[in-house]
Formats: sequence, structure tokens, C-alpha cells
Amino acid sequence: MHCFKIYKDAESVAQAVADYIYKEINTFLIDKGVCHIALPGGTTPARCLELLAEKQLLWEKIHCYVGDERCLPVADPERNDSMIRDRLWSRVAIPLQNQHVIEAERGPEEAASLYAEILRDIAHLDIVLLGMGEDGHTASLFPNNPALDDPRPVVPVYHAPRPPAERVSLGLSTLREATLRVALVTGAGKREAMAQLRAGATLPIAQLGNISWFLDEAANA
Ligand code: 6PG
Repeated sequence: MHCFKIYKDAESVAQAVADYIYKEINTFLIDKGVCHIALPGGTTPARCLELLAEKQLLWEKIHCYVGDERCLPVADPERNDSMIRDRLWSRVAIPLQNQHVIEAERGPEEAASLYAEILRDIAHLDIVLLGMGEDGHTASLFPNNPALDDPRPVVPVYHAPRPPAERVSLGLSTLREATLRVALVTGAGKREAMAQLRAGATLPIAQLGNISWFLDEAANA
């Protein structure tokens, strides 16, 4: 079942998601002693990751993955792992081997198969934190792009409508198999996509299964 939570503004959404993720990570740690979480790129989640970094968590038992990566050189400021490192990993005691980056600098095809090997070590992701674009894309699964129908666990992406055109993304199957999906969506620019989703449109993010949605009033339709 989808679950929608609406907050006054983007800051309140970031706080609510950080609190929720903190609680859920701890639940997985209690239940299975480890938690595998995929983190999103984009601008919206940055504040939430900063707030998550302020919480006391057993980071040596938490494995972080990147939901999608842009094919840019290592440490490029536009890479998703640069944002995640800046806002979260550099602020907490997470071992390097728990920071599972996508080697997108190797190009979509090679990076996708290398990352699939990393994911093969785990049955499925426990938590996937997602952003959503104005066209309803999530991770780097864009509407009408062949990557959406690619059954592989990690997929190469070409011709993305937002730069860079070449990317790597967790595949739809991996996102569907995760135990818990959480979407963080703020701003008036996302309102139209939310209206379409609520009306039953088959946008990429609508194909993932149940999601816990955290929206601000501007994005809520
Ligand atoms: C990316 C993403 C993408 C992002 C959405 C929302 O690499 O571009 O991971 O799916 O989460 O496009 O991005 P904003 O938060 O910047 O609107």
C-alpha cells in the first residue's frame, strides 16, 4: 500500500525522512544485524542526508549503495556519490568498504555489470531512498527509455533527457525487490507528476510497488 505524508515545507520533509530512515535502519539492525540501504542523487535528498549524519547509528553495520550514478570522472561535483560523501559519508564513521559506489567513470555497460556483482552478495536491498524528477523518473529510469524495460539488476542508461546522457541505474527489478521504498519529493515543479501518479499514470516511479511518500505542500497534488 502507498502511504502519503505531507509536510509544510522541504525542511520539514527532510527532518521527517531522516527520523523515519533512522528508525527503520535501527529496526533492520535489530532484526538482522545489518542494513543495506540505497541512497539517491539529485538535490532534494542532500539536507535529509545531513540530518541523518547527525544521528547515532552503528555505521559499521550499515552498507550504503548508490541508486544511480552519472558517467562522469571520479570526484566530479555532479556525481551522486560526491553529494552523498559530502553530506553523509564524510560526517560519520562508515567504513570505506561499506560505501558501495558505482564506478560510472568506466562507462554505463562496464559499470553496471561491476555493480551487479556487488549486489549479488546480498539477497535484496532493505531500504531504497528515492528522489523523483518532474517527469516521474526515479534513480536514472526515465520515461520511454529502454533502461526501464531492462531486466538486469543494474542497468546502463543512454540518452537520458537530463545531462549527463550516460548513466548507470539500479534496475526496476532491484528497486521492486527492496523491502522498503521511501520517496522524498518537494517543490511545485513535482506537483504535476504527483497529480498524474495519483490519477494512475504509469510513470517510472509508479512501477516500483508500494512506496512511503514524503511530500511538502508544494508538491502535493
Ligand atoms: C539523479 C537522480 C534522480 C533524482 C531526481 C530528483 O541522479 O538525477 O538520482 O533520480 O533523484 O531527478 O532530483 P532533484 O532532487 O534534483 O529534483
